[in-house]
Amino acid sequence: MTAETPPAALGDAPNRGVLLRFAEHLPITDATPMISLGEGDTPLVKSTHIVRDIGCDALYFKLESCNPTGSFKDRGMVVAVAKAMEAGATAIMCASTGNTSASAAAYAARYGLGVYVVVPDGKIARGKLAQSAVYGAEIIAIEGNFDAALRVAREITAKHPIALVNSVNPFRIEGQKTAAFEIADALGDAPDVLALPVGNAGNITAYWKGFIEYHHRERTSKRPRMLGFQAAGAAPLVHGAPVEHPHTLASAIRIGNPASWKTAIAARDESGGSIDAVTDDEILAAYNRLGREEGIFCEPASAAGVAGLLKLVAGGASFAGKTIVCIITGNGLKDPETALKTEPPIHHVAAELGAIEREMGWS
Ligand code: F0G
Repeated sequence: MTAETPPAALGDAPNRGVLLRFAEHLPITDATPMISLGEGDTPLVKSTHIVRDIGCDALYFKLESCNPTGSFKDRGMVVAVAKAMEAGATAIMCASTGNTSASAAAYAARYGLGVYVVVPDGKIARGKLAQSAVYGAEIIAIEGNFDAALRVAREITAKHPIALVNSVNPFRIEGQKTAAFEIADALGDAPDVLALPVGNAGNITAYWKGFIEYHHRERTSKRPRMLGFQAAGAAPLVHGAPVEHPHTLASAIRIGNPASWKTAIAARDESGGSIDAVTDDEILAAYNRLGREEGIFCEPASAAGVAGLLKLVAGGASFAGKTIVCIITGNGLKDPETALKTEPPIHHVAAELGAIEREMGWS
């Protein structure tokens, strides 16, 4: 290594990753291992079509689906796992609707930690289950929903020497806030509005923390209005009370009692924003539009931000002159069942030029 060479991350992602890029904003010590799977630095893509219906100045999608395990969880997980390693942990655990478990399992595999993921039995998308399986996690499927899974994960980690890496772990929030920095750096200022799905409410908490910190450091002139969206059948923050049996096809946000309840409400109120509900039909309509009109294949939960913006506009809201960023939280490949729920319009033909020309109407 020459004097000019930056210190390489432990794990062959030199100069990349959330820990190295945002070290000055993170609770890192000399003893923190600078681990990475190349998370962060995700694309901010301008809307080409949906923007017209929102009527704003500019609409951007932050493609958190481009993180190494296909969701925003990697930003926070890398910090939580590094701090757990620093503290001497040899195993980690999380409750999950699928993405947190995939992320925890990946970092644990890479850095030789034991990993236990507690998931609602039969209720997480197949792609996410595949990820945990391939990364070698111990998969504990419980009878019950995410809220029950988080309760037992807290009990187990309080009793056994296993680090809990859910977003109740403050290092997760620290890592996830870096997405706000990336957005502000890319736009040259904070956007006017940030729209995102809300489940356990860690992410809205993290973005708000990030925007507040950047504003304090005078890196931005303003802070965005935070618009969070829950699924109508799993909307405790909208109703103001826990939902005992949350239901929605957006399995990632099928959560009835968010752990970061208070901080989500604070983000809403301090930013002058709102937390609203969108129906499964609205989520699916936005999911299909993102695919067909924007070339973005996200998982259903990730379409809640777009669904919510469209709903607000239909209800008379105006975003004229505003810059909006919508967070695309997870990759569509994680949930192939939803993608293939309706039979895909496939042309079944012989491997012959003439047959294909006839089928396509080219002859
Ligand atoms: N979008 C996706 C794709 C998610 O996986 C989640 C949460 C959210 C949005 C909501 O974020 O919980 O911070 O409000 N998934 C968690 C999990 C619960 O276990 O993977 P949140």
